[in-house]
Amino acid sequence: MQSKVEPYVLFEERNRIAEEIHDRICPHLFGITYAVHSAEQDWSGMSSEQHLDLLREIQQAAAEATRELRKTIYDLSASEHGDASWLCGVESLLASQAKLSGVRIRFRPPAPDRRVTVHHQKALYRIIAEATGNAIRHGKCSAVDVRLTLRRCSATLKIWDNGKGFDCGATRLGNDDSGHGLRNMKTLAAALGGSLQIDSEEGRGTCIVARLPLSDG
Ligand SMILES: Nc1ncnc2c1ncn2[C@@H]1O[C@H](COP(=O)(O)OP(=O)(O)O)[C@@H](O)[C@H]1O
Ligand SMILES: [Mg+2]
Repeated sequence: MQSKVEPYVLFEERNRIAEEIHDRICPHLFGITYAVHSAEQDWSGMSSEQHLDLLREIQQAAAEATRELRKTIYDLSASEHGDASWLCGVESLLASQAKLSGVRIRFRPPAPDRRVTVHHQKALYRIIAEATGNAIRHGKCSAVDVRLTLRRCSATLKIWDNGKGFDCGATRLGNDDSGHGLRNMKTLAAALGGSLQIDSEEGRGTCIVARLPLSDG
């Protein structure tokens, strides 16, 4: 007899994979699309050296997307690579996004001595990827700041951009075709007992703050 738990587990797993694809792979693909789009417009004004640089950046972003896709498919979590490497992953994602979009992205990492669980690493990575991707794509900002602070009992992640902002009261969270990014970020924070606040107004940029409780350690 089929277990009653099994369909639920499969449903959860399918959702997890869908969220991973959206949050880990889409940012790289959006970056590539964005870079190709601007290259199309500026191509004739660029030198052959600039053409080569741009093509290399696009190639790197495509390689990164492939790597993330493999990780998702084979479920190779950050834990395999030790605790410090997840921050290197964040740094390389942000560097790639900055290169491809021309947006200045500053990352202030936490003190290296405070460790967090793989669940926290994954959630923080995905919130950073989604929020910075939104800032570039939707906000059309020129700068994004990302700051992660790890204290004994809590993690605070703040991402703010100087883009065009939006009316977050009027934006339904993933209930229509607008996408699932904002809703996913809230779900990720809530799943770890935390919260995520979105503060934005048209013409005033966007600020996202996620607060996650950490167990004392
Ligand atoms: N940083 C931002 N700046 C401006 N608009 C934003 C920003 N983040 C989100 N938005 C708006 O909220 C909408 C929903 O975002 P999201 O849930 O991530 O879906 P998607 O990115 O797939 O459209 C976006 O389409 C955009 O209009
Ligand atoms: Mg989005």
